[in-house]
Amino acid sequence: MNIIFADQQAILNASDFIRNGRLVAVPTETVYGLAADAGNDKAVAKIFQTKGRPQFNPLIVHVTSIEQAEEYVSMTPLAKLLAEAFWPGPLTLVLPRKQSANLSYLVSAGLDTIAIRCSSHSVMRDLIFNSGCPIAAPSANPSNYMSPTTAEHVKNGFLGLPEPAIILDGGPCEVGLESTIVDACTEHAVILRHGGLSRGDLERTCPIYTHEPNQKIKAPGMLEKHYAPVHKIRLDVKEVRAGEVLLAFGSEGVPVCENTLNLSTSGDLTEAAANLFKMLHRLDAIQSSGIAVMNIPNTDLGEAINDRLNRASK
Ligand code: TXA
Ligand code: MG
Repeated sequence: MNIIFADQQAILNASDFIRNGRLVAVPTETVYGLAADAGNDKAVAKIFQTKGRPQFNPLIVHVTSIEQAEEYVSMTPLAKLLAEAFWPGPLTLVLPRKQSANLSYLVSAGLDTIAIRCSSHSVMRDLIFNSGCPIAAPSANPSNYMSPTTAEHVKNGFLGLPEPAIILDGGPCEVGLESTIVDACTEHAVILRHGGLSRGDLERTCPIYTHEPNQKIKAPGMLEKHYAPVHKIRLDVKEVRAGEVLLAFGSEGVPVCENTLNLSTSGDLTEAAANLFKMLHRLDAIQSSGIAVMNIPNTDLGEAINDRLNRASK
């Protein structure tokens, strides 16, 4: 992992890494991001693996324009108003995911909403242009560390790890605080995370509501809302009951079932994470008496997989 000055050639090289499913650390105006192709399940799984997140928090998808955002999310009238006022800039909008969106399901942790942002930083923008894909990027720090605002911060966080493949150095981040996240799914703008764009600035365009963590607002995109399949999930199965479909893992002890999807026949937990939400969606679309899920080892990304499966089974 090398720090490379983010000139045109370095950005072209970084784009190759992105297209090949690798991770690249990239400056934005808020904080450095750990970037991957948002359409590539395996690359997105690598983000979670590299950050060592015990849970699959949904990630922000970065684009370069309102037009590109419209390929992936429904831009509500409120979203258009906010995007026209503050994009490119430190504002992330949570919006309904379009059915046709060619994005990894892992990127939104199976939610039917997507957090989308248009950064003003020329390095992030050039990386998206040259890679030819939208970019998923959480802050480029190991889980539970502070967000990095210089290339050195990123390097120190991931010492000795294979990813990110390179760190593009664009100097210190101007804003230094993560983007402000606003749920714009309905006609009410709700702040989900305070950040680089102040409430006062936002309020110049429309009334802003704050999401209180203990206040249960029934609206899409709320943080505590987790993907729950329609069908009942039964965990830790060794046998499949009549009418069930099966989410299998590994090659040993897989019960016979007509509708089986295997997270990873080789028992690779990163591959399993990459497939998790995609396969749950597919199995959930089948008429069945429930989704049976085999045991998944609780190590490495298995912890995050089990966290999600446990929530989905409740
Ligand atoms: O400034 C930033 O936003 C930086 C730069 C790199 O763009 N990124 C960043 O990402 O801070 P991250 O992953 O550290 O934080 C993303 C936040 C998480 O708190 C996550 O829960 C929330 O966005 N989020 C993502 N998708 C969401 C969704 N569909 N609904 C609600 N919240 C969502
Ligand atoms: Mg973060």
